[in-house]
Amino acid sequence: MNSNMPLFPEQASTFAGQVDNLYFFLVGLTVFFTVLVAALSVFFAVRYRRRQANEVPEEIHGSAILETLWIAVPFVLAMVLFVWGTSVFFTIYRTPVNAMEIYVVAKQWMWKFQHPDGQREINELHVPVGRKVKLVMTTEDVIHSFYVPAFRFKADAVPGRYTYAWFEATKPGRYHLFCAEYCGTSHSSMGGWVVALEPQDYQAWLSGSAGGASLASLGQKLFQNLACASCHLSDGQGRGPALEGAFGKAVQLEGGQSVPVDEAYLRESILNPRAKIVERYQPIMPTFQGLVSEEQLLQLVEYIKSIGPKAGTAKGAAPTGKEKLGK
Ligand code: CUA
Repeated sequence: MNSNMPLFPEQASTFAGQVDNLYFFLVGLTVFFTVLVAALSVFFAVRYRRRQANEVPEEIHGSAILETLWIAVPFVLAMVLFVWGTSVFFTIYRTPVNAMEIYVVAKQWMWKFQHPDGQREINELHVPVGRKVKLVMTTEDVIHSFYVPAFRFKADAVPGRYTYAWFEATKPGRYHLFCAEYCGTSHSSMGGWVVALEPQDYQAWLSGSAGGASLASLGQKLFQNLACASCHLSDGQGRGPALEGAFGKAVQLEGGQSVPVDEAYLRESILNPRAKIVERYQPIMPTFQGLVSEEQLLQLVEYIKSIGPKAGTAKGAAPTGKEKLGK
């Protein structure tokens, strides 16, 4: 019914209707009492106006019925609103167990989404219609707030912790996503779209978005998005060892041990970075356990496999041969 009203975004989630019903009840209640009080004020002012200069009104000594009424009526109304509001609140903020999970990482000034199968998106989130979607949200910097008016829900992303929210889209469409927490200069442009697709279209989108690129190029993207590149500089001067040309060689660990850099080593180093510390480096790498799926781990491994040493920069890494041939 709201789609005809220009002031109202359409209802596109399972709880949009519930939120609107409560909202309209509140507005209706407020309008009713505002009009009632205003009308009675005018009516009494006219009805009981002073008619003669020496008129003295009859005294009133309270009314038990009136007093009971104006305590009982507001009390009942407040309780109705409390119970109704609480039930809608719990519907929205208690996340269901059988939902599909999407990771949301907010940062100034964008929304980054990560699907269970490894698809990543920025400022656009594709979801299937008729399926509960649970958002596991955090932020890289300040507090942001995920707000989709058509879904009637809003949830904060808070630094240093995960917050959870969920929704179930009820009809296909493109719905505006806003940041609803002032977060700096570009707060107003920090937004995007939630695209709700029919289940078969969503499947097509899923396979299309992952199938287009090779594992290694997905891994490279992941490597950038996870900010691996900010520490693993290719010249070996970063806070982490250079990874160019590392695969397939042996690496010297703190304590003198030497281990081969293979798939298992890379996997362990991503999930449990402190297990093996490369000589001359500090154990400062955070764990990526839970942040990258098995599939993404493979992508990262494929990417590291694919990068050879950069010409003339890799001090520690052995040359592959090609670069040094022209000597
Ligand atoms: Cu992010 Cu406002």
